[in-house]
Amino acid sequence: MIRLLHISDLHFGTVDTRLPEAVEAIAARLPPDAVIVSGDLTQRARAGQFDAAAAWLRRLPAPVLCVPGNHDAPLYNLVRRLAAPFAGYRRAFGPAEPGLTLPGVVVQGVNTANPLVWKSGILRRSSAARLAQAFAAAPAGAMRIAVLHHAPVPAADGTPADMADPPATLDRLAATGAEVVLSGHTHMPHSGIAGQAQGMLFLQAGTAISTRRKTGSNDLSVIEVAGPDLTLTSWVAPEGGAFAPRPPMRFRRQDGRWQALGAG
Ligand SMILES: [Fe+2]
Repeated sequence: MIRLLHISDLHFGTVDTRLPEAVEAIAARLPPDAVIVSGDLTQRARAGQFDAAAAWLRRLPAPVLCVPGNHDAPLYNLVRRLAAPFAGYRRAFGPAEPGLTLPGVVVQGVNTANPLVWKSGILRRSSAARLAQAFAAAPAGAMRIAVLHHAPVPAADGTPADMADPPATLDRLAATGAEVVLSGHTHMPHSGIAGQAQGMLFLQAGTAISTRRKTGSNDLSVIEVAGPDLTLTSWVAPEGGAFAPRPPMRFRRQDGRWQALGAG
């Protein structure tokens, strides 16, 4: 069994100071085989914010795979945004599209942030090709997990996908061979919201530690993969209080489709 800790939208610069230690404590107790961060590590892509995010992630007891979000490219400095949008991100975290192979699991991250429009996302052909390549090279039977900041599916409350051409993006993503898609961006306390489309299971996380709560809560996900089975446990912290686990949701992948096995 492989256990992933999925956190998102850290937004260093607007961190609720009560929360980082709480996440560290959960991580220490689990502990995960890897930590996945689906973008927006900073609030304004400033060097100090990247440094603070990197320093905090180093405190977590597992390798970290992260991808940039729209907030990790400068918003106000147009010259820097267009000339070298991810220079600060790369200085702190290295490649914007990293991969990670664990026993029975292949994780590939891609950069969906689009500096031209800043907020809305895009799945570039080069990113789709990177996903396809990673998943084609995956050992037989390994779960293929894509990590994106933006997802081409609606948010927990039905808000439409904040991404260029969601139907075409969904097709492009399905063609890569992705089976699970982890994302962030919407800041709703919706770890544990699972959408299924074209054989993919979409698991979205809200903001783990930022005060930029959309509906009052922070959250994170614990994802356990064993063969074709995936168990998702959401931890939710209302109003910056203590994180508490929700009942686990279980899924099984069979014949190229996901089946919800219910809670417990
Ligand atoms: Fe965000």
